[in-house]
Amino acid sequence: MSNLSGKHILLGVTGSIAAYKAADLASKLTQAGAQVDVILTGAGEQFVTPLTFQSVTGRRAYTDQDLWGNEAHIMHVSLGKTADMLVIAPCTASTMAKLAHGIADNLLTLTALAATCPILIAPAMDGGMFDHPATQENLKTLQSRSVLVAGPAAGHLASGLSGVGRMIEPAEVLGHIRAALGKKGKLAGKKVIVTAGGTQEALDPVRVITNHSSGKQGYALAQAAIDAGADVTLITTPTALTPPVGAKIVNVKSVQEMLGALLNESADALVMTAAAADFRPKNVAKEKMKKRDGIPQIELEAAPDILKTVAGPGVEQKRFNVVVGFAAESQALLENASEKLKSKGLDLIAANDISATDAGFAVETNRITLLFADGTKENLPLMSKTEAAEKITEHIARLLE
Ligand code: PMT
Repeated sequence: MSNLSGKHILLGVTGSIAAYKAADLASKLTQAGAQVDVILTGAGEQFVTPLTFQSVTGRRAYTDQDLWGNEAHIMHVSLGKTADMLVIAPCTASTMAKLAHGIADNLLTLTALAATCPILIAPAMDGGMFDHPATQENLKTLQSRSVLVAGPAAGHLASGLSGVGRMIEPAEVLGHIRAALGKKGKLAGKKVIVTAGGTQEALDPVRVITNHSSGKQGYALAQAAIDAGADVTLITTPTALTPPVGAKIVNVKSVQEMLGALLNESADALVMTAAAADFRPKNVAKEKMKKRDGIPQIELEAAPDILKTVAGPGVEQKRFNVVVGFAAESQALLENASEKLKSKGLDLIAANDISATDAGFAVETNRITLLFADGTKENLPLMSKTEAAEKITEHIARLLE
């Protein structure tokens, strides 16, 4: 469940070839639990039909014909007043100009003028049209009125040219909507730092010692904190995942780099989801180790304990109000996690049973027991990493109260 669940989203679709992407966006919003009402402009209808949207949202899509029906006089007012957000994706240069100048000559622009909810636009047009001073002025006007602007992106355009003007992808628009809806969440105004992924400790310029962490649990935590309104910094090792929209990304590889990134930070909460190395090679070979030289003997040394260094007992400068750790254990789960909770000075530790095939590294689900510094515990059943992240985020908000 994301912060879209139960939300009423109005999706305006205007006349751009990117209108086909709006069907995917409407589908993604619906799957995330939102109630989606689509309004197509006449030009939008030239590219996609109301039926396309009705099929993915399960609700009728509105067109300019609805301007003249029985409910016409209240339609644009009620749609704009009951929605949690009006999203116009794609938004053409022409619709941007109408919004900037208060022109209300179709159901969508009438609704936008009557809307009391936040408005987000995802511009889509040719590069020259986007760069045109008129469009740039309109953009500034809309931003000065707190209209949120997502994109456009650079790339191949329908004209065959390349430039800035492509509508951003539906998943990214969705991320912008989540970040905007989160602004009133339980962590609004709070800063949360999340670490994710497995650290990489170099042996030589080619090889590293690492682990199976995919970053999924950490990225889910960053998204959950954004959904709850937090200002999120995600310190991440290389992963195959797309970072959540709205997170400030800090890329690191080794334990030393992750520690370095944290030493410059302070926050309301620190969530150490990363699988950081306990040991690292004592010496890193400058050149690639050669097979012809025989099997190398690799001496290991202790890597710095990040949590103990930045927040552990005895650390004088308290830079994080709530500190959350994880414990990936293959045996004696609760005993080991409880020892880490104390020795690392944590408020909460998520004990992760990695002996189960449906929990821990790289899978979509997790089995977690939460142990708190006050001695209480909560046993969470098998759940998606997204759900686990939302549970932990709720506890962070409670601990910060
Ligand atoms: O990324 P995924 O594929 O989704 O997998 C998720 C996960 C299994 C990596 C995650 O749920 C998890 O359990 N992360 C912690 C893994 C781990 O390193 O646990 P640990 O028991 O070794 O460390 C305990 C705590 O100390 C952790 O919060 C860890 O980030 C921290 N630590 C560890 C080593 C170190 N040098 N410094 C640290 O601060």
